[in-house]
Amino acid sequence: DWTTGNIVEEQITAIREQVGNKRAICGLSGGVDSAVAAALVQKAIGSQLTCVYVDHGLMRKGETEQVEKDFVAATGVQLKVVDAQERFLSALAGVSDPEQKRKIIGREFIRVFEQAQAEIVAEAPGDQPVEFLVQGTLYPDVVESGGGTGTANIKSHHNVGGLPEDLEFQLIEPLRQLFKDEVRMVGQELGLPDEIVQRQPFPGPGLGIRIVGDVTKERLDLLREADAIAREELTAAGLDREIWQCPVVLLADVRSVGVQGDGRTYGHPIVLRPVSSEDAMTADWSRLPYDVLAKISTRITNEVADVNRVVLDVTSKPPGTIEWE
Ligand code: XMP
Repeated sequence: DWTTGNIVEEQITAIREQVGNKRAICGLSGGVDSAVAAALVQKAIGSQLTCVYVDHGLMRKGETEQVEKDFVAATGVQLKVVDAQERFLSALAGVSDPEQKRKIIGREFIRVFEQAQAEIVAEAPGDQPVEFLVQGTLYPDVVESGGGTGTANIKSHHNVGGLPEDLEFQLIEPLRQLFKDEVRMVGQELGLPDEIVQRQPFPGPGLGIRIVGDVTKERLDLLREADAIAREELTAAGLDREIWQCPVVLLADVRSVGVQGDGRTYGHPIVLRPVSSEDAMTADWSRLPYDVLAKISTRITNEVADVNRVVLDVTSKPPGTIEWE
């Protein structure tokens, strides 16, 4: 029968069998899924695992520090941080199609993992080869990406349909049959702190798929600020655990006229997309209190340059997806 303890035990046995005495790496995104996958594999194979945090510049404010501090403190995992901002930004330059963005981000992730793999081997040459890549793929990711067949029904989650064909790694995906609430239970069972386990979902491709238009450093910085404000206010209002997640989206290709101070502005809108959901397969837009929305709107337009309008997305899923891309 299904208990979280059973799942953990089963997966640990399966992972040990699969990996043997070889080594594995696991990409950490700062999200719940990769953190729980990493903690599970760490529990199974200990120091045969190295976690790799790719700082691709598409992260939210404070994310890198959280992984470096909280996650390492909670798990004692070996962590390698790779600064890959230049690499991702130049690969994404001029690209505005969402599927193409996901493919590029997925591919660059793998290239960075391959580089990390080579470095890990070079650092400890006598050890076993690094043959495995751990991914926090969940059941809904598999379903929505067309079962990993490469033909996306809805979208290619970067870690399912978005992998390059010449992948050198064998995949370990211990969460592939689980839904998000089950993953959180597994995380708790493994002793991860609430700050990690109860976090709202955040997509692997990060802010890269929250800019409608092409991705630039300036746009990322702007969106990062707006996103941090929305998160701060939702947390202050005690709503962060009430809602499923709240993507904050920059409509970089849209401009609207505004008036700020004593001048006319021609800036960009920010979209707030708060949703409630059980498993992300369907969702409803969250009825947030008006005063919280007002506070977020005032702060974003006051504090974020070039944003002169905040709009609220009132679409459920279906017909809209949770993310805009
Ligand atoms: P959608 O937009 O498809 O999102 O309704 C469903 C859930 O999945 C997350 N999401 C992603 N997660 N890689 C991920 O790791 C992706 O490419 C991706 N696209 C969407 C989204 O944040 C929501 O929780």
